[in-house]
Amino acid sequence: MILALLACSGGDDSAPAAPSPVDSDPTPADSAAPDTRGLLPLARLPELEDLDPADGAVRVALVAAPHTHSFTDTDNTTHTVDGFAYSSSGTPLIRAQLGDTFTADFTNDLDEPTTIHWHGLAVPYDMDGVTWTADPIGPGEGFTYTFTLTEPGTFWFHPHFNTDEQVSGGLYGVLIVEDPADPAVDEDLVLLIDDWDLDPITAEIDDMDHDHVAAEGSWTVNGQLQPTLTLDGGSALRVRVLNVSNLGYLDLTWPDIRQLGSDQGIGGALSSPDSIVLSPGDRAEAEWLIGEDSFTLDDAPYVHQGGSAWGEASALMDVEIGTPSAAPSGLDWPFSGLMPTPDPGHTDITYVFSGSRETGVWLMNGAVFPDGDIDEVTLGDDAIIEVRNLSPAEHPYHLHGMPFEVLSIDGIAPAARQMEDTLNLGVYSTVRLRVEGNNPGDWMSHCHILPHAEGGMMSVLRVNSPK
Ligand code: C2O
Ligand code: CU
Repeated sequence: MILALLACSGGDDSAPAAPSPVDSDPTPADSAAPDTRGLLPLARLPELEDLDPADGAVRVALVAAPHTHSFTDTDNTTHTVDGFAYSSSGTPLIRAQLGDTFTADFTNDLDEPTTIHWHGLAVPYDMDGVTWTADPIGPGEGFTYTFTLTEPGTFWFHPHFNTDEQVSGGLYGVLIVEDPADPAVDEDLVLLIDDWDLDPITAEIDDMDHDHVAAEGSWTVNGQLQPTLTLDGGSALRVRVLNVSNLGYLDLTWPDIRQLGSDQGIGGALSSPDSIVLSPGDRAEAEWLIGEDSFTLDDAPYVHQGGSAWGEASALMDVEIGTPSAAPSGLDWPFSGLMPTPDPGHTDITYVFSGSRETGVWLMNGAVFPDGDIDEVTLGDDAIIEVRNLSPAEHPYHLHGMPFEVLSIDGIAPAARQMEDTLNLGVYSTVRLRVEGNNPGDWMSHCHILPHAEGGMMSVLRVNSPK
């Protein structure tokens, strides 16, 4: 049913759906399912003010508090969800530069404990926001997070306590670490994508369960239902897309994809995939070279339980052209040009994902966290990790503390060196990863489908100093 709502904006080959004018009255007798598209111009995430005037330092204030998220559809009806946010103006964006000292003065104004985890960033262990060896931050309490930004990329942050519920209520933000050496663009555009559960009959937002599979549910871009972005021909954009859903998968398409990188910034080489699958927690970077043609950012139905997807792609966002002009040529991105590290063949750590929807139990190495064994790596050593998915569902593997290199996916090495912190595992698939054990601590290693992680699909990778 929801599919019907979302499919209305047209298939992939048709001309991009022109948004109907805001002031045209919706046809009243229309008994069909309500239209859940929106018509608003795309909002940019509100950028937090840097409270430290010094060069090389960025300091922000973050407050976790109850927040009403609202979404306006084509009928100009506003749907609301009572959730949470880190800023009174919604989901905050932080921009900093490579090498900066970053500080966040955090206050918990929720009525339950929370933490902040800096997803994808190699932070010192006591800044990682996990509650494995530390207490969470209680209501009314605060904490100062501070660390150096050592890698450029598109990162995000979210709680690591009652994670599924707090993240699905909208408690997250974006942290962009810019490399000043990168090419200048007309816009560095952040698209934060989340799904919210719409009632199939009334299109009211029921709750924040986000419990959709495939094309159900309603995706928002920067908190808006199918917004419209107007760009001028001749402009070049760096587009950073984040999937912050607690369990929804995106399969993104637009014409002539030019992918620059993924979780950990600009990658080994430019790639031109047919679509970009973003599992929960995943990010991608792309270049948009705008010419004369409008287009839509589409999401194809994606089934993460195996089997084939059904239904049509739905538009997440319309891109309209202001002043048409020839598209610029691609910019000179600092791709590493590196090939993947050859797989050394041995395995230091094996993770097995198992479980099923029938049992509702999701396991890592046969155990429910924290019952499993701790895997140890000596500080300074590389660890070769093999992750095997023996379950009939996909799982995004995520490691805290250190990014990893993808050595192979089902035996196939990537075309260029690929650094990630979140990597989706297909049904019954096996991936091999290399992590440099250069950050001492007890790092959470888990599935980023948050109900799975909370259910126990999590483990600890300990990086120890040699005695
Ligand atoms: Cu983004 Cu342990 O999580
Ligand atoms: Cu999972």
